[in-house]
Amino acid sequence: MARFAVGLVAPLSLALGATAAGAADYPERQITMIVPFAAGGPTDVVARIVAGHMSQTLGQTIVIENVVGAGGTTGSTRAARAAPDGYTLITGHMGTHAAAVPLYPKLAYNPQTDFEPVALLAGTPILILARKDFPAENLQQFIANVKANTDKLNMAHAGVGSVSYSACELFNSVIGVKPIGVPFNGTGPAMNALVAQQVDYMCDQIVNAVPQIKGGTIRAYAVATPTRNASLPDVPTTKQAGLPAYQASAWNAIFAPKGTPVAILDKLNAAAAKALDDENVRKRLLDLGSDVPPPEGRTRDSLRELVKSEVAKWSAVLKPAQ
Ligand code: MLT
Repeated sequence: MARFAVGLVAPLSLALGATAAGAADYPERQITMIVPFAAGGPTDVVARIVAGHMSQTLGQTIVIENVVGAGGTTGSTRAARAAPDGYTLITGHMGTHAAAVPLYPKLAYNPQTDFEPVALLAGTPILILARKDFPAENLQQFIANVKANTDKLNMAHAGVGSVSYSACELFNSVIGVKPIGVPFNGTGPAMNALVAQQVDYMCDQIVNAVPQIKGGTIRAYAVATPTRNASLPDVPTTKQAGLPAYQASAWNAIFAPKGTPVAILDKLNAAAAKALDDENVRKRLLDLGSDVPPPEGRTRDSLRELVKSEVAKWSAVLKPAQ
């Protein structure tokens, strides 16, 4: 019995010790950060900006792995099933970790129980965007045109469950249309199609559109937040443009698989917070129109509460994709 007990105790203490030692020495090798959309899109851009600084703090490379498909749920499922050792993380968002729940009745993961919240990275207001020669001078003319030509217009998105899909589903329901949706593996490629005028409109996160709007290669009719965005002072709010009912904003955050040791989660959270206090990181995020969370909005518990409230919010406005 003693032998068994000793045997039992030894591995357990080794395991506990290893976990404690592992957390103390973490990270001892490179970390994989899954981005569940194509390179060059908003999720990828935010992840690379913040993870680039985090890797300096942690002393290990953070490798971005773009795992695309199914509106970001393919990569999110991969992350949920990864070993909870701190070496596989995901940059998810309002789509993958909230809107996907009502859109996929058989979603392979539960954002609230299959992940550990690590760090909120950026709030990302939604813009109503169109190809640069769309025949409308303002949001009201745009809405009238979309209503009159719904069966002829193509709306780009990043797949069912993505932010762009969910935000435009809400927009379409507010104005009462059902356009043809054109899915892409991310709104990076979708933006290329919009600039090339291969698609007609899109609802996207501001961080993906500021350079194109300033460069005149696409049009922005409104920002779906209560106040204008400092990076785009000439773009009216939806309320100023006559559509107060349409309010939409997204966010990007880091998650780890359920069961990742708290000491590792706390180390990652601290590294993310340090990145968000870095002048260069802040400037890059703010110049792209995103909101950098204040210290009180960076805790793991506040991210847990955000996911909970966002799942409830989007479950009230979205239904399973037809
Ligand atoms: C989304 O629509 O969910 C994202 O904008 C996709 C992306 O980050 O490429």
